[in-house]
Amino acid sequence: MSTVATALAAQPNTSGPKKILVLGATSGIAEATCRIWASQGAALFLVARNAEKLAAVAQDLRTRGASFVETAVADLDDTEQHATLLSHAVNSLTGMDIAYLTHGVLGDQAQAEQDFNTTAHILYTNFIAPVSLLTWLANYCVQRHHGTLAVISSVAGDRGRRSNYVYGSSKAGLSAFLAGLRNRIDREGVTVLTIKPGPTRTAMTAGMPKSEKFADPNAVAKSIVAAIAAKKDQLYVPFIWAPIMLVIRTIPERVFKKLNL
Ligand SMILES: NC(=O)c1ccc[n+]([C@@H]2O[C@H](COP(=O)([O-])OP(=O)(O)OC[C@H]3O[C@@H](n4cnc5c(N)ncnc54)[C@H](OP(=O)(O)O)[C@@H]3O)[C@@H](O)[C@H]2O)c1
Repeated sequence: MSTVATALAAQPNTSGPKKILVLGATSGIAEATCRIWASQGAALFLVARNAEKLAAVAQDLRTRGASFVETAVADLDDTEQHATLLSHAVNSLTGMDIAYLTHGVLGDQAQAEQDFNTTAHILYTNFIAPVSLLTWLANYCVQRHHGTLAVISSVAGDRGRRSNYVYGSSKAGLSAFLAGLRNRIDREGVTVLTIKPGPTRTAMTAGMPKSEKFADPNAVAKSIVAAIAAKKDQLYVPFIWAPIMLVIRTIPERVFKKLNL
């Protein structure tokens, strides 16, 4: 029997606390989001690669009211292990209402311009690994006609810019994959939410110029929780990034190529 079929034993959750799988649970945005869910009494299965940080996050969420917290340490670049990991997670939760994919790397754009291996690593972590996770998770949800796949992409994926087009292209690929996946499985009762944050104050942006002016991760998390609850398809957060990116996308290429963005 496939791991998806084995994990199907648990039936959709119609009442009781939300069952949430978090991939990349030590991310600043994920942590802020999980704090809200914990205060609502959610059951959480947390996956991250840093055991020490993960244990601290899990303990914090228990004290904040989570009804269940289980963890697994995993490097999510190890796609060979995804089926085993995900099957274990949904079995521990005895089902799954929400899968929240948050892990990602910014990478070094300057280095990536000189070295394909750096580029490949960014693309693998931000695009290939989520696609592997989503392939399993989508089939699990479709078979139960239930669930939300909430995935953090980025405004950077809306248009390639000289300053971060490697990271941007990884997120553009992810956003396109999510749009197609939504088109396939929304009619099966499965919601796919593409989350596009603008610059946010987390470890990823620490030390960037003017990072103190970036969005507060707690405010970003609040919008994400609300968008998941409302079964939205897409979220620009903070919302101002929706009109900004609309304008950026419409700038003609002959003008855009001369800008220093
Ligand atoms: N902050 C922003 O301005 C911004 C804007 C748009 C989109 N985003 C996206 O938001 C998401 C969350 O980022 P964040 O801002 O919260 O930054 P963050 O705190 O740096 O979180 C990134 C997380 O990804 C984890 N990670 C990276 N590679 C991994 C791997 N191979 N296996 C397992 N975990 C891995 C990191 O783990 P370690 O702690 O072990 O390194 C870290 O927990 C990312 O997808 C990011 O691209 C962020």
